[in-house]
Amino acid sequence: MASEKSKIIVDNKEIDLPLIRGTMGLPAIDIRTLNQKGMYTFDPGYLSTASCSSAITYVDGENGELLYRGYPIEQLSEKCDFLDVSYLLFNGELPTDIEKQNYRKSINGHTLIHDQLNSVYRGFRRDSHPMAVMIGVVASMSAFYTDKMDMNNPDHRKLSAMRLLAKLPTIGSWSYTYSLGLPSVYPQNDLGYAGNFLNMMFSSPNKKYQNNPILTRALEKILILHADHEQNASTSTVRLVGSSGANPYACIASGIASLWGPAHGGANEATLKMLAEIGNEDRIGEYIKRAKDKDDDFRLMGFGHRIYRNKDPRAEIMKITCHEVLNELNLSNEPLFRLALTLEKIALEDKYFIEKKLYPNVDFYSGIVMRALGIPNSMFTAVFAIARTAGWVSHWNEMLSDKENKIGRPRQVYTGLAKRNIKPF
Ligand code: CMC
Repeated sequence: MASEKSKIIVDNKEIDLPLIRGTMGLPAIDIRTLNQKGMYTFDPGYLSTASCSSAITYVDGENGELLYRGYPIEQLSEKCDFLDVSYLLFNGELPTDIEKQNYRKSINGHTLIHDQLNSVYRGFRRDSHPMAVMIGVVASMSAFYTDKMDMNNPDHRKLSAMRLLAKLPTIGSWSYTYSLGLPSVYPQNDLGYAGNFLNMMFSSPNKKYQNNPILTRALEKILILHADHEQNASTSTVRLVGSSGANPYACIASGIASLWGPAHGGANEATLKMLAEIGNEDRIGEYIKRAKDKDDDFRLMGFGHRIYRNKDPRAEIMKITCHEVLNELNLSNEPLFRLALTLEKIALEDKYFIEKKLYPNVDFYSGIVMRALGIPNSMFTAVFAIARTAGWVSHWNEMLSDKENKIGRPRQVYTGLAKRNIKPF
């Protein structure tokens, strides 16, 4: 990072602060020394605050660009599979052929979960949300994988990351089969990451699941597109929890908990709920009208984005995949999917949505694709969590390797009562 100066004036006093620039993106004022000058900054929600420096992912909202380790998401989703991308995020480079073989071998060596973790599942009610079960099971890995837990040792960190990446599809799919009262299906390493997940979701001892390459590739793309998105709420949560030296399983369980919130990972589930509520194409006009009405809280779920103001590059990729999957399964004329496609068309042509730059986001399309694959709504965020584990472990590892890493400890502006004394009783 090149360093320049910036100046702020507080109470007529000039304070020089370094201006730092990354390789790309906006400059940042380095305010670390402000507390020594008796002041600090106020930024709820971190709208103007970079909480760390990171070399993993770059998001340019204005130009609709997303890069993992410098590679555009369009190229990665076309040329790579999810394991290549998880390797890239963690290690900084795509694997060579030999690295690829070794990496896959190591991942495959960790896809099973400790047999006794079965009893952790049994402690949950069958109707528990899969995300609730995943949080519990991932957190309890802390009690099962207690070897090699020196977080200052890069090899130990690598092993923990590998265990998490390898086991998450098993843990996620078992959360679903448990909710149905079906036996858990063991991983089949020869099926690949996405294929193995679909097999564990949909096969059973008396019924084989027939993998379809178009559908498996569609899931692989969903995983790649959701693998990382720099310092979002769940990634920042993982970093904050990890900054105290907490173990990796506790960190990732906290990331899953943060992701579960409807303002974060829940939008694809909300899109499908909205489509069910609209019910049929005749009612689209009514809902579009509500979405435009300032006095109505209703928003079109799966439309708009906080950062991508012109285009969401992930949505453009998922849109193509969505149409491929619906065609492959002959679903374009099924009422739910026809409704989704009509809503997409109407909103894309509507003046209000065009002027406000509100177009379908990645979750609009990924929700439809997952529904077409037969994945139930309650598992949408679980799939997101499996994908984002690749980003979480990479950020956690980057943070612990960073010499400037400090325990996260934000300050506050105190607005309570001033100091007072208890009156004599
Ligand atoms: N439907 C109707 N109007 C909308 C919508 C929508 N989905 N989104 C924004 N607007 C309007 C909003 O009312 C505002 O109007 P006005 O200028 O008249 O006040 C204008 O567009 C700008 O919106 P904003 O509230 O400033 O946008 P924001 O950055 O605060 O919100 C958002 C972004 C994603 C939260 C919002 O667009 C939204 O609630 N979308 C629906 C939920 C959704 O799909 N979320 C998933 C986002 S992608 C997931 C990810 O990347 O992790």
